Amino acid sequence: MTSTIEELLRYDSPIQHTGRLAPEEMMLGGQLIRKRQAVIAVIGAANRDPLRFTDPDTLDIARQDNRHLAFGWAAHYCFGAPLARVEAQIVFSTVLRKLRNLALEPAPLVWRNNVTFRGLEVLRVTFEPAAMGRN
Ligand code: HEM
Repeated sequence: MTSTIEELLRYDSPIQHTGRLAPEEMMLGGQLIRKRQAVIAVIGAANRDPLRFTDPDTLDIARQDNRHLAFGWAAHYCFGAPLARVEAQIVFSTVLRKLRNLALEPAPLVWRNNVTFRGLEVLRVTFEPAAMGRN
């Protein structure tokens, strides 16, 4: 469960980019960035960087070397990351426990039309309720 949640965060990062104003002039990735110039850091691209991740476009729920940037980095690292991780654990483990024969409906996935927040508009699935008495 733990590695699955980290891999989902890496593979389809819910926040695709963030922005900064450069505090001073600097060279970054061969580009001159001027003081106060706006820079967009594309988290979604960093999390698929082939120099960082083996086979980055493969969803590998057992991936171990997975220090992704889905919650940002350094001073502004996501304040809610531990809560988001716990919520994901509760949701996925409950869904797996409560819903038998969970399967995707054979329909195209529809993604939100938003350049910053990545996610599905809707995820259609079929399932049967778990047997009575199980919690
Ligand atoms: C999957 C869920 C979440 C994702 C992917 C996410 C992602 C991020 C990212 C990438 C940043 C850094 C933005 C930047 O550096 O410009 C951030 C910052 C932040 N997040 Fe989250 N977040 C999530 C859930 C939450 C939750 C549940 C809370 C609060 C309960 C929260 C509160 C914050 C706050 C307060 C900051 C700003 C921290 C600062 O600037 O010092 N986040 N988040």
